[in-house]
Amino acid sequence: MTILVTGATGNVGRHIVNQLVQAGQHVRALSRNPEKANLPEGVEIVKGDLSSPETLNHALVGVTGIHLITFNGEGFGALQTGAEIVGLAEKAGVKRVTVLWNGEPGPVERAIEASNLEWTFLEPVEFMSNTHEWAESIRSEGIVRDPFGDSLSALIHEADIASVAVAALIEGGHANKAYTLTGSEVLSVADRVRIISEVIGRDIDFVRLTVEEGRERMRARGAQEDVIDFVIGWHANPPESAYTVVPNVEQVTGRPARTFAEWVKEHEQNFKRA
Ligand SMILES: NC(=O)c1ccc[n+]([C@@H]2O[C@H](COP(=O)([O-])OP(=O)(O)OC[C@H]3O[C@@H](n4cnc5c(N)ncnc54)[C@H](OP(=O)(O)O)[C@@H]3O)[C@@H](O)[C@H]2O)c1
Repeated sequence: MTILVTGATGNVGRHIVNQLVQAGQHVRALSRNPEKANLPEGVEIVKGDLSSPETLNHALVGVTGIHLITFNGEGFGALQTGAEIVGLAEKAGVKRVTVLWNGEPGPVERAIEASNLEWTFLEPVEFMSNTHEWAESIRSEGIVRDPFGDSLSALIHEADIASVAVAALIEGGHANKAYTLTGSEVLSVADRVRIISEVIGRDIDFVRLTVEEGRERMRARGAQEDVIDFVIGWHANPPESAYTVVPNVEQVTGRPARTFAEWVKEHEQNFKRA
């Protein structure tokens, strides 16, 4: 039994790969740049690009389960190749698929829902790893710059998203379910700054950016305009689900969701002066 992990070199995918390996599964990881993938020993790394489905045939041989991303790293927009990817997966004999949503259902989600695959949609709110965005200015100046000082978030540790994916892929019992995934607490930006400050033992100031400065920061990272509109709109006027804790992580995995303080401790070197 082989499980194919797409997005394997990303925030969530690396945890999925590690947890599948720990669970004794045979893991194949898809990457556009296998030479840079840097994944654990024993993981089979194959080259492929989800936006060019003809590159996926080799990756799908013998695969029974897939973890699928739904966005294209070029511009971060929705992958347009859902129908082709799902057609290839069905032809290859794939049974189960976990799908990491991209905020709004796109061509991948629509093709999956119309398929005979056992799908599980993972619908996380904000990732704790977004906090890496603050690391450079915390290290160099002790400052967080953000346009949304007041927004509340039930942010989730990427390893918890991975744990839900792994349970769905290995154990089954989660077919045709869509799980909203949150952490165990609702935090404001001020709460997050305070927790980082406590962990690294340094005062941190908050400087509010204008929304346009926030947009410019995303543009500089290569995000396309519709993605920027979505992200800015989400933070400016978050849906209730963004700041409402739900118990799905614990119900699926059998243990409570990891806290933001745990996440910061795991990454504290990234926030400390060299
Ligand atoms: N950040 C948040 O708060 C948040 C919240 C909810 C949902 N999401 C969703 O989560 C997803 C991002 O997940 P992440 O943070 O784990 O990803 P990430 O760290 O940004 O990594 C991107 C991954 O996707 C792979 N990738 C990108 N384009 C690809 C393509 N065309 N073909 C094959 N692989 C491709 C990359 O692989 P290679 O570079 O190795 O090819 C890499 O492994 C997005 O869909 C986002 O909308 C994010």
